[in-house]
Amino acid sequence: MYKRIGLWLSMILLFYAAKADVIDSITSPDGKIIFRVTSAGSSTKGKSFFYAIDYKGKQVIKPSAIGFVLKVPEVTLNSFVLTNTKKSNKDGTWEPVWGEVKSIRNHYNELALTLQGTNDVIIRFIVRVFNDGAGFRYEFPEQANLKHFIVADELTQFAMTGDHKVWWIPGDYDTNEYWYNTTKLSEVDASSGKLVAEIHAKTFFDKNAVQTPLMMKTDEGIYVNIHEAALVNYPAMNLVLNRNTFTFTSHLVPDAVGNKAYMIAPAKTPWRTIVISDDAREILASKMVLNLNEPSKIENTSWIKPQKFVGVWWEMHVGKNSWDYSGGQVGSQQATKVPHGANTANVKRYIDFAAKSGIPSVLVEGWNTGWEDWFGQWKEDVFDFVTPYPDFDVNELQRYAASKGVKLIMHHETSASVTNYERWMDTAYRFMKNHGYDAVKTGYVGRIIPRGEHHDGQWMIRHFERVAKKTADYHIMVDMHEPVRSTGLHRTYPNWLASEAARGNEFNAWSSGNPPEHETILPFTRLMGGPMDYTPGIFKIKMSYYNPGKKEQVHTTLAKQLALYITMYSPLQMAADLPENYDLYPDAFQFIKDVAVDWDDTKILEAEPGDYIVEARKAKGSGNWFLGAITDENARQFSVSTSFLDEGKIFYATIYQDAEDADWEKNPEAYRIEKQLVNNNSTVSLKLAPGGGTAISFVPLTKDEETLMKKEIKQMLKRNKKSK
Ligand code: NOJ
Ligand code: CA
Repeated sequence: MYKRIGLWLSMILLFYAAKADVIDSITSPDGKIIFRVTSAGSSTKGKSFFYAIDYKGKQVIKPSAIGFVLKVPEVTLNSFVLTNTKKSNKDGTWEPVWGEVKSIRNHYNELALTLQGTNDVIIRFIVRVFNDGAGFRYEFPEQANLKHFIVADELTQFAMTGDHKVWWIPGDYDTNEYWYNTTKLSEVDASSGKLVAEIHAKTFFDKNAVQTPLMMKTDEGIYVNIHEAALVNYPAMNLVLNRNTFTFTSHLVPDAVGNKAYMIAPAKTPWRTIVISDDAREILASKMVLNLNEPSKIENTSWIKPQKFVGVWWEMHVGKNSWDYSGGQVGSQQATKVPHGANTANVKRYIDFAAKSGIPSVLVEGWNTGWEDWFGQWKEDVFDFVTPYPDFDVNELQRYAASKGVKLIMHHETSASVTNYERWMDTAYRFMKNHGYDAVKTGYVGRIIPRGEHHDGQWMIRHFERVAKKTADYHIMVDMHEPVRSTGLHRTYPNWLASEAARGNEFNAWSSGNPPEHETILPFTRLMGGPMDYTPGIFKIKMSYYNPGKKEQVHTTLAKQLALYITMYSPLQMAADLPENYDLYPDAFQFIKDVAVDWDDTKILEAEPGDYIVEARKAKGSGNWFLGAITDENARQFSVSTSFLDEGKIFYATIYQDAEDADWEKNPEAYRIEKQLVNNNSTVSLKLAPGGGTAISFVPLTKDEETLMKKEIKQMLKRNKKSK
């Protein structure tokens, strides 16, 4: 019923929006973005309110409705009397605990409107306009007529100005592990999402629904990205598109009984965010979502360490070994039994490899009992997170890892039985600390328990935050798989290093995989909310290597896998392939050994969603720079100025690139490595194969090396003169 009311309301609102009066407006600090609030209608009880956005004199968001339908108390909040207006501004900088840049400017103008709605319910509509976009949220202040309330629907709309190009995945209550569609708005059809069989728990609800971060491009070349920031104690937002008017209406993920959110005033919603630019590079550089999140709630952050890791992991995804002690495969994908991967001797092999490679950590999956019967049963008590399989010697591995200076990362697959995990969390984290673990990878494969809840509903949003808080109490870093998409909460909980929350590299091992353009879209979509644990670094591209009958493959070249360490930002990066495969290509593996995971600076050099990305980053606290360039299925060339390099220094550049005849499909593992001396006046030319990439490390010469070199050059010149 609420759906019908919502539809009906939006039609009336659209009618009113056409003849609106301007209530107030606020511009970005640089004046390029104007955010207008208008009202229309003539009810004595109030008027409908709308917002609209202009960028460089062009409208990018048409008048769009705001408001709510509450279920308890039963009231529709879509006409208001404005009772107060407040303007303010802020200009400051802050330093993230880790990140793409050393310091971040938080510069905006703010407009806060107090609106009185039906039954005297008061909401505040807070708008912040930055140079890179605008965010707004609703607050329900403490008030006489509202205490506990239930949200049936949020009426927020985003009315687009035309039939834009859009990069989208289907709306869903449980998963974001889809590949991206690129269409016009008028061509969106999310029912095709139902065809993605390899995603276990997915909940399709509307063929016009898409997820955020949603990337669009207008015919005039303006990029518009819609998402949300600071998703706390509220469900995630999907967007339902009216394909005739190009208007999106928010659709919150419901709970088990169909309600959206349970709130207690004072309360606030997440920010609704719209990043805007006519330069795609500025979309990637935007820090607006982070700026709209609360500062770190963790005071002492010295224990939080950005890091690389290897893991007893890919060997299971390629079907070589098993999570399960009895040798079954995940979801019984494989009938023949294979050995158990997480055995003491094998884990020691990974520890040795990490130690010799200077990689600080080793993830181990399949170490604990439960994998025998975990998949697809909607079963509540599967794992207890403290009982190792008999061939995994926790104490011996603790001793061995410590002796090698390597940390183990624990894996907690919850099988989405979250009630069970909540009961075990404290015990599990104590067990971790007692055995020397300070990082955990969690997972939520399957349908959620409490039954009827969804991965992206309010109940789970609260769970993910509880995990972030509780792990922080134990000084544990966390990487979540199958959680809700990121909304910048890593600013508030910097121990939450990364999430998966999109279609990761693993899909390439056992499904139709990720098309070559996938990694050129993710930074414009999923990564707008925060770091992704994509698990790059696969060198053995074709799965036929493991089993001649297999057709699956990674849809990139080997060189592109290296470039992903730069283009797919995360403070937690896996070197995902098997140690024995890295040993086959030691010269290419050198890049993974060298590359940093935490940065003082980032320059987006070239970018177009779905086509290509070229970025350079300066390693934190060192003078080294790294560059990553990736392309979709098309070969491309770039001539890149290295003007980002520090002035007055000479750098030794090692260029890892596709071989002349490389091709993601026909010849993916062919690469070549070239060395060059460059400074900030140089140009490097990059030649990317279809589905290919280039990675470069730039290491400054020391003063001694420079002196030595100058001497050698002089001698060489002298010798050359003599020999003439
Ligand atoms: C899915 C996760 O994304 C993957 O990384 C993990 O290995 C499996 N679940 C098993 O937990
Ligand atoms: Ca996953």
